[in-house]
Amino acid sequence: MAAAGKGSNGLPISPDDAEAFIRARAHVDTPPLTPEIRLRLGGPVTELWEATEAVFGLHNSPPPYWAFAWPGGQALARHVLDHPEIVRGRRVLDFACGCGVSAVAAALAGAESVVAVEIDPLAIAATRLAAELNNVTIDARLADVVGEAMAEIDVVLAGDICYERPMTERVLAWLRRLAARGCPVLLGDPGRAYLPREGLEKLAVHTVPTTLDLEDRTERITSVWRLPG
Ligand SMILES: C[S@@+](CC[C@H](N)C(=O)[O-])C[C@H]1O[C@@H](n2cnc3c(N)ncnc32)[C@H](O)[C@@H]1O
Repeated sequence: MAAAGKGSNGLPISPDDAEAFIRARAHVDTPPLTPEIRLRLGGPVTELWEATEAVFGLHNSPPPYWAFAWPGGQALARHVLDHPEIVRGRRVLDFACGCGVSAVAAALAGAESVVAVEIDPLAIAATRLAAELNNVTIDARLADVVGEAMAEIDVVLAGDICYERPMTERVLAWLRRLAARGCPVLLGDPGRAYLPREGLEKLAVHTVPTTLDLEDRTERITSVWRLPG
């Protein structure tokens, strides 16, 4: 086992240990909305969360978001696969990539390059494994880039990021600045509590099957939104 390094969210998990854990605990599957994308997915959420804490000696760690293709990420991925011109030949950022579903979609749709960022080392490992499974290249980085200029990025995708008020406010303020300098920013969102109610352009709507393990219903009406430029 490699020496542990600390991720930006404080999880002391090395890349090698993260990859080994995901290979052992997650299975290869395809999200309902994007059958052309293979991912390492896991669950049930509570068992996986407990296993993560037991294996890595953690307490009060965040949920294993990385083990699921969230409705927002799936809708974004579907949108990009159906409208490849959004990313074709562009340098794409998948912000808060989780399992990597939107990053893989961007790469499959012909992006010039795809950078995927996360603060969870397990999500970075999951995204690297997703790139391998789908034979695409993704530069997955453990980093909190909120506030950075991202001059090297042409398009931003952000799936299911509006579920916590402080995080959403901080991230949306930054994404709005990127949109204002002419960088298209697309959000995938299934009606989370902190999605802004006004000023977004709706690009598409998808019905995404979900499980009661994660959500309070068996499907989520999920929209793809564009931030005003
Ligand atoms: C609900 S998950 C969505 C994952 C993925 N986009 C999807 O739709 O399947 C939200 C993710 O945001 C990540 N996250 C939270 N704050 C972040 C930040 N400042 N930078 C990057 N990722 C962040 C979490 O670690 C989590 O994996």
